Amino acid sequence: MISIKKSISEEILKGVLKIKSDAELDAHTVVSMLEYPPDSKMGDLALPCFKLSKLLRNSPVRIAQIIAEDFSSPAVAKAEAVNGYFNIFLDGEYLASKAVKETKEKGESFGAPELGAGKTVVLDYSSPNVAKPFHIGHLGTTVIGHSLKKLHEFAGYRCVGINYLGDWGTQFGKLITAYRKWGNKEDVEARGIDALVELYVRINNAISGNEEQGIPADAALADEARAEFRKMEEGDEENIALWKWFVEISLIEYKKTYNQLGIEFDSYKGESFYTDKMPAEVQKLRDMGLLKIDDGASIVDLEAYGMPPCLILKRDGSTLYPTRDIAAAVYRKKTYDFDKAIYVTSAGQSLHFAQWFKVVELMGYDFADKLVHVPYGTVSINGAKLATRTGNVILLKDLFATAIEKVAGIMEEKNPNLENKEKIAEQIGVGAVVFYYLSNNRIRDINFVMEDALSFDGNTGPYVQYTYARTCSVLQKGGKYSIDGTLSITAPEEAELAKTLLRFEETVIDAIDSYEPSVITRYILDVAGAYNRFYHNCSILGAENEQVRNTRLALTEATKTVLGNAFELICLAKTEKV
Ligand code: ARG
Repeated sequence: MISIKKSISEEILKGVLKIKSDAELDAHTVVSMLEYPPDSKMGDLALPCFKLSKLLRNSPVRIAQIIAEDFSSPAVAKAEAVNGYFNIFLDGEYLASKAVKETKEKGESFGAPELGAGKTVVLDYSSPNVAKPFHIGHLGTTVIGHSLKKLHEFAGYRCVGINYLGDWGTQFGKLITAYRKWGNKEDVEARGIDALVELYVRINNAISGNEEQGIPADAALADEARAEFRKMEEGDEENIALWKWFVEISLIEYKKTYNQLGIEFDSYKGESFYTDKMPAEVQKLRDMGLLKIDDGASIVDLEAYGMPPCLILKRDGSTLYPTRDIAAAVYRKKTYDFDKAIYVTSAGQSLHFAQWFKVVELMGYDFADKLVHVPYGTVSINGAKLATRTGNVILLKDLFATAIEKVAGIMEEKNPNLENKEKIAEQIGVGAVVFYYLSNNRIRDINFVMEDALSFDGNTGPYVQYTYARTCSVLQKGGKYSIDGTLSITAPEEAELAKTLLRFEETVIDAIDSYEPSVITRYILDVAGAYNRFYHNCSILGAENEQVRNTRLALTEATKTVLGNAFELICLAKTEKV
């Protein structure tokens, strides 16, 4: 649609110049003024001419009339001036031919905007804290982060996906203490991360005690844990070996979930990697006079920017979360020379990012304005059945497992003879969770309702995956067909579908500009809706003649390409059979 909008805008410009021959206006600006009317009676595109009345010193009504006078374009079937609007009705055959031709020619790159050539984006996402549960709070960062990576890759950026593992910190002191007290090697080897999380939960409960059950807090245990972490920091071999092992065990588990989602990271450099890179940044802050001592701690005062101080060193000299983020950003700039560094975390961390972004700016780093924080809302879950052994926390892997199990049950009823049932149930179960999650504006809080996510007739993952499978099955049944240049458009649903398909590229641009994968999920629903209306109202295989049949098969193939490309952008599997 972008190229159609451009050519229409050039025509419009001719009319504008008739009104004022020296008007300072270019086609690009006209493109940005075009709107999609809310009602198709008002056309497929419209120019609200009041936007030009100041420039042209004329009333919108008159401007619209003059533009309409000798307007002509091969893409346009009809154009009219109505109440100061210039309304454009696109030509169905033109749209369909364009959609069919371009999807065929470009295939997997259809819809890819050329935004990122020669540019690098670094994306920091997922980043669970080792030994703590990988829970549904991480769903957002994992799928939004990966979707943003896919979107940028699609647009031609070189992308580096970084899993900034929380692999350092006092939690390891706790885990080491708990492991020595209650754990054993066989159990951890057999049960992996579950055993670690159990140990972690157990020691936390022991340290904080339980008033209700009359269990007192155990301060000595807390001291012991702190001492073990200190030993780790000093390089104690045994503790370091245990730490490495815990990280390895956790990674095995995370990678299972990443595999289900089709996610791969380019780097797993976690917090521990930056230990020796922080002193230089702390020194720089000190040299620049940015550090202030406050109650023994070292801080950067941000009062002038309306924020609480950014904590750099604790009283005992140990570093903090912001210190590490600053060192990591400097390292990433040096290593990848990024044009943009994106951090995806819950909105709860927004202040943290605003603070250290400001500190980086005060330090004079020229990349400060290339740092982008992408926050998202909270997730709650409806239905106690999903709760796990770990108490209130719902693990990501359990959420997916439940979805997969339920889909398998539904499929057993619907289509018991389907080949490769297990794989498909996995793709649809995982896809349902991802699609449901990404259907919301990322900043909104979500209440997850499994039944809604899995419904085959709602605006869900299963519904769009089913639509994709439908295009595959129509094409398979239709067999070979050929298009000799002329398409035969006989129903409004055909033109509507073509128009929707051609909107893909601008949708991708919009999603990238707003860091919002939900723009893609909504678009997928639009395409699925347009295809299903077309499918129900236009007989494809039993069409009245060969040319109409071929046209409809070609539109089906174009839809398959667009849905497939869009699925890629949100980690949704292309299910050929359901
Ligand atoms: N590990 C952190 C957490 O689970 C998220 C890390 C986000 N990335 C960053 N560069 N701070 O809360």
